[in-house]
Amino acid sequence: MHSPSTSATPVSQPQAAGVPLVDMQRQYQSLKEELHAAVNRVLASGRFVLGPDCQELEKAIAAYCHVPHAIGCASGSDAILLALMALDVGPGDEVILPSYTFFATAAAVVRLGAKPVFVDIDPATFNIDPAEIAAAVTPATKAIMPVHLFGQCADMNAILALAARHKLAVVEDAAQAIGAEYKRRPAGGIGDVACFSFYPTKNLGGVGDGGMLTTTRQDLADRLRLLHVHGMQPRYYHQVIGINSRLDSLQAAVLNVKLAHLDRWTAERQLHARRYHELFASHRLADVLGLPVEAADCRHVWNQYTVRVPDGRRDELRSHLATHKIGTEIYYPVPLHEQQCFTYLGYKVGSLPRTEQAARETIALPIFPELSFDEQRFVVARIAAFFGAGQHEHRPPTPKFLKHPQGRENEPSGRKSA
Ligand SMILES: Cc1ncc(COP(=O)(O)O)c(C=O)c1O
Repeated sequence: MHSPSTSATPVSQPQAAGVPLVDMQRQYQSLKEELHAAVNRVLASGRFVLGPDCQELEKAIAAYCHVPHAIGCASGSDAILLALMALDVGPGDEVILPSYTFFATAAAVVRLGAKPVFVDIDPATFNIDPAEIAAAVTPATKAIMPVHLFGQCADMNAILALAARHKLAVVEDAAQAIGAEYKRRPAGGIGDVACFSFYPTKNLGGVGDGGMLTTTRQDLADRLRLLHVHGMQPRYYHQVIGINSRLDSLQAAVLNVKLAHLDRWTAERQLHARRYHELFASHRLADVLGLPVEAADCRHVWNQYTVRVPDGRRDELRSHLATHKIGTEIYYPVPLHEQQCFTYLGYKVGSLPRTEQAARETIALPIFPELSFDEQRFVVARIAAFFGAGQHEHRPPTPKFLKHPQGRENEPSGRKSA
């Protein structure tokens, strides 16, 4: 691995154009010919919906997630809706989920007439806290929906144990976490059913919307295959009321090309995370910012590199970086339990304090496979300037890379796609 830490190295000042949060052009340029060939083949075939490309992708994702079944659909949001429909979640049911997630996780619960029960997070990993889940279970609880946020799996063993004790289903929202692992088990192959998004900025992103469900359960796979085509089997005979949520062949063809590169891109993201950590340490910022951690025995795939900014200065730092044309994002500025549309649920400000603190403090920095080392140095130097930590890198006293909250150091494992 490249070591950026030389004592008092003057920081280069590249990129007058700044550093984007994500740059999808770079990936497109590197795969242009393959992508064009795949798209042209689909156009010539005339098979645009649920064609052979979709079946190929389903097989490849099933193998990648070590499960027997994968079912394509139109988006990650639809995948969550379909998963809950397949589990018969409806009026009178409660689903436990984090408030610190994208809106889609909770919206599907409400669409089906069920009640989302929001619980707090583990502040170290930003993922749902199993102890909080235990306290939220009631006789009406039907499912737990952990979200593998920012590319790191939730604490699934504790969640699976709770689910078994109370006979609850577990739906993994793995939208941000394709390729992540929890104790050598792949995201998408741990709960009863899992939901992936192929939104363009995801680690495996299409050229539009797309989604996938994975499951080890034959009964759920059969139901999902019905539900996502209006419950129709055979043609024009409707066994149940489903929805129209199909994966386009064009998306599948693009994703089939990209899947072959996913593990290499993940390794790049992991390298960037390590470099950020070392650069922050070398600028003596590792104890100023709250740097993200990788839990023990997990493979973090770094869909986002999210840091905490202390002392209420997050928005000020964001403006400072914007003046240097450095892209950032806030995931998520308003936790779901505080969203206007969920006021009817009666949550008060202060009811999920660790979630609320994360929403106030976190900022996501540029991370994508093609990000250059110079760009990372530029980002960190601008953050150092903001904190008055100087323009020079210093040799870090002790490397503090990615400690688990319990103190174990962890090296990400490699993973080959199917
Ligand atoms: C955690 C999470 N869940 C669900 C979704 C929904 O996926 P999609 O945008 O494909 O509908 C997203 C996408 O941003 C997400 O990040």
